Amino acid sequence: MSITPRIPSLIPESAPFTPEQRTWLNGLFAGMISLDESVTPLSNAEAAKLLPDVVPAPKEDDGAPWHDPAMPIADRMKLAEGKALPRRMMAAMAQQDCSQCGYNCKDYADAIFSKKEARLNLCVPGGKDTARTLKTLFAELGAPAQTETAPAPAPVNSAPGRSRDNPVIATFISRRRLNKEGSQKDTWHIEFDLAESGLDYVVGDSFGIYPTNDGALVDAVIAALAAPADFPIGGRTLREVLTDGVSLSPAPDMLFQLMSYLTGGERKKKAKALADGRDPDGDAATLDVLASLQKFPGIRPDPEAFIEALDPLQPRVYSISSSLKSNPGRVSLTVDAVRYAIGDRTRLGVASTFLNSRVKPGDKIRVYVQKAQHFALPADPNKPIIMIGPGTGLAPFRAFLQERLATKAPGPNWLYFGHQRSDYDFFYEDELKEMRKSGHLTRLTLAWSRDADEKIYVQHRMRDEGRDLWEWISRGAHIYVCGDALRMAKDVERALIDVVAEHGKRSPEDAARFVAELKKSDRYQADVY
Ligand SMILES: Cc1cc2nc3c(=O)[nH]c(=O)nc-3n(C[C@H](O)[C@H](O)[C@H](O)COP(=O)(O)OP(=O)(O)OC[C@H]3O[C@@H](n4cnc5c(N)ncnc54)[C@H](O)[C@@H]3O)c2cc1C
Ligand SMILES: NC(=O)c1ccc[n+]([C@@H]2O[C@H](COP(=O)([O-])OP(=O)(O)OC[C@H]3O[C@@H](n4cnc5c(N)ncnc54)[C@H](OP(=O)(O)O)[C@@H]3O)[C@@H](O)[C@H]2O)c1
Repeated sequence: MSITPRIPSLIPESAPFTPEQRTWLNGLFAGMISLDESVTPLSNAEAAKLLPDVVPAPKEDDGAPWHDPAMPIADRMKLAEGKALPRRMMAAMAQQDCSQCGYNCKDYADAIFSKKEARLNLCVPGGKDTARTLKTLFAELGAPAQTETAPAPAPVNSAPGRSRDNPVIATFISRRRLNKEGSQKDTWHIEFDLAESGLDYVVGDSFGIYPTNDGALVDAVIAALAAPADFPIGGRTLREVLTDGVSLSPAPDMLFQLMSYLTGGERKKKAKALADGRDPDGDAATLDVLASLQKFPGIRPDPEAFIEALDPLQPRVYSISSSLKSNPGRVSLTVDAVRYAIGDRTRLGVASTFLNSRVKPGDKIRVYVQKAQHFALPADPNKPIIMIGPGTGLAPFRAFLQERLATKAPGPNWLYFGHQRSDYDFFYEDELKEMRKSGHLTRLTLAWSRDADEKIYVQHRMRDEGRDLWEWISRGAHIYVCGDALRMAKDVERALIDVVAEHGKRSPEDAARFVAELKKSDRYQADVY
């Protein structure tokens, strides 16, 4: 007769483990410690801390209630409190599933947790806050946090040009401004030649580019460092490394740490406070690398140590706004320039201003195609599609329309486009009007937010046209939204739920469930940032 030993329960029932993991952990600890009356069960947090090195991440679905890009990080971390470490790591991400890090938020967290990914600073939209939180969480793994310069792990997809870790070369061909003179926006149509790279893509994919920093900013940093521009660093010059190797945007904690070593008294305290994530003078949010050097004038870090303290320059991704079928060997993007003033200096979004003003025709750029995860035309070309894309959100829908034209897809196409002013900001106006005339674009709904006193947004127009929208949805239409993740995408979803409730004659709860089902079945897809 075999006797199954009774394994006492040290892991609480509520701890986020599968029954197998719980049994396994209980067995492990029963063997590790003497089980007398004084042994008390572990708390969830203690149990979670023990998890990393002994069992894989729990697979239980907790619904990830923090998975909302509009939620501030403090609220996300609060919602994830008490959850297993990989879940808390996920909550630290910006929740956009934007793939700029090479993963979605959950997979990036799991990769860090399982130590397959050493880089904690890959979340571009999460920036410093995410990197800092991840560093703290990583420490719970019991291993020292990797430095930002830790060697990159094997790329997730190592095929050339298919991931940020293995870019290929494309040639910049041209740019054309999409706003008319007088617009408050600066959005450009950008074209690359892919011939040399042999790269292909499908509509819905995004395009990753490695930008370079603005030359004037690099000069100003070199001047503030009072170092020679040709100072040698790893076989390159200081200027070269500052141009394409490191981020000159928000100053990393490591830079303040370095500064704290090189100064004394009150300045040392301030630098240390900034390195610890505090904000002694209330200006932390404005401190890019140059502003940090200017805040502590006279500190002359060794250029090599200075470079070591900076973050690597990250690639940026852009929705592809062309179809290969109508543009063989080419890819186009639709890029809005990020520029804003702080004090008397205009800060430049590194990649958008690189594409919209610095790169020159013929320049060779490192690029890759970021495959879309759940953003694609329906497999059935007969299906109707509804595309909601204000501003640069129009980009992938131009590609969708080109693709459906080139493949003679018979399904009806409805586009919602919105922007500030009809006279200045009607991107691709001629093309869209032509497609409308030919009937390829079955319906075009426009929303101009600054033509009149009252703001008209795409979601207002959706509500106005709710009856027809519902009719298209009833006919099996696939719905797409692209553009701003923080406000627009949420508002559009709210409008969609309202339309389903009103015209589909459902309670608000049933309408929300209906839209959730559309999402689950990939009939409502989002590409938001
Ligand atoms: C899947 C995906 C698709 C995308 N598609 C497009 C697209 O088609 N077109 C497009 O234009 N962009 C698109 N983006 C956004 C794009 O990737 C970049 O984020 C954007 O161009 C800004 O990058 P940057 O390097 O120019 O700016 P950065 O150097 O990254 O600077 C941007 C940062 O500056 C700060 N900032 C911006 N404005 C202000 C302000 N007023 N005050 C203070 N701080 C501010 C914010 O911290 C912001 O994160 C997409 C993003 C994703 C994830
Ligand atoms: N990561 C980055 O740094 C970065 C870079 C580029 C773009 N973005 C973001 O991505 C978004 C796209 O920018 P964009 O240049 O394409 O255009 P945009 O700034 O989103 O503007 C496009 C249109 O959308 C309107 N809009 C504003 N709030 C809205 C809402 N809640 N619902 C629906 N429409 C709304 C705007 O109106 P009004 O302006 O008149 O209110 C405008 O008419 C922006 O939010 C921008 O902040 C971020």
